[in-house]
Amino acid sequence: MMSDDARRQRLYEHSQVVILENQQPGGAYLACPNMPDYQFSWFRDGAFIAYALTVDGDAVGITHSGSMAAQWESARQFHDWCATVVNRRAAALELSIARAARGEPPALADTLNARYRPDGETGPDGWPEFQLDGPGAWLCSLAAYAPRVRIHPLPLAWARAVDLTARYLAALWRTPCYDCWEERGDSVHISTLGAIYAGLCAAERLLPGRRYGAAAVRDFVLARGLTPGGELAKSVGLDMVDANLIGVAVPYGLLAPDDPIMRRTIARIERELCVDGSGVHRHLEDTYYGGGAWVLLALWLAWYYAVAGETARARALVAWAEDQADAEGNLPEQVNTAMLAPASYAGWVAQRGPIARPLLWSHAKYLIVRGALEGG
Ligand code: BGC
Repeated sequence: MMSDDARRQRLYEHSQVVILENQQPGGAYLACPNMPDYQFSWFRDGAFIAYALTVDGDAVGITHSGSMAAQWESARQFHDWCATVVNRRAAALELSIARAARGEPPALADTLNARYRPDGETGPDGWPEFQLDGPGAWLCSLAAYAPRVRIHPLPLAWARAVDLTARYLAALWRTPCYDCWEERGDSVHISTLGAIYAGLCAAERLLPGRRYGAAAVRDFVLARGLTPGGELAKSVGLDMVDANLIGVAVPYGLLAPDDPIMRRTIARIERELCVDGSGVHRHLEDTYYGGGAWVLLALWLAWYYAVAGETARARALVAWAEDQADAEGNLPEQVNTAMLAPASYAGWVAQRGPIARPLLWSHAKYLIVRGALEGG
């Protein structure tokens, strides 16, 4: 029998390896290597993965594929992949920016997709591709990476992509889009605005002297993004919370973790979305794979508590997440215990196969939370 500490160490090392081994030549991270619908690289998942490797690489350098600072080298390759994808679409994105300036909505073909194939090409039609949080999250992740590895000024291609992404987000943030769960494409989502706000602030740090209007996004959230009870709302006009709202404070920093609005939001997430034993649902109407408990959300809440200094609560959530690893140490996206809509489970399994596992984003959150608990 392995001790708890040995099991944790194994999961930590496996998380590093599972991420590094599923990075594709060119820098893309597959969201999950064995689920066909997830064999793409998302800005959002990748942003958190690269951030996890950035902070982990700050604590310890590991050797992989010939690199002695494998985490930072991997993050560099992902940032380079993002910059290439964005720059390749420059003409289309400029069209969207120009249309927004005329008060017109963007044409879907002129927006950034949520996910791309590793070679930077688009996936099959029909996916809810128009999502604005991912590019914001990417800027944030890059702004955490560049100063840590002392990249200053940015390489020209990166600077061009950062400026273009920030102008695109600054032009489109009021436009309804799919949220980070790829749902509700007709609404403006508060967690998405959190990511955009953070992305615009990040771009200003990356490109000193530029201004992208982040303050207007924050003002909008405070004016239009609250429920009648004073929590952050899942989307504008909705009296409902979503666990993705944790991100508005950590890591996006639109509100401080102890801001009363954030405290009320977390309290409602705990009341409505936390399962006994510490798994966390996305939102009350979730039917995806039956609406199970998400490992990366338990870890996200743990990250919030770690930053807020409530380490006992953080550790309880992490312990639950650790228990969800299988014999190989692979973490899933969600677990089918305590489902909100059990009748929907079988349909998704028939359509996509078993729940995604390993999900690189879950492993990334594990690295992040371990770092937050162990060193700040
Ligand atoms: C989730 C997204 C995620 C994608 C890939 C989807 O099911 O809703 O948040 O980016 O899977 O992991």
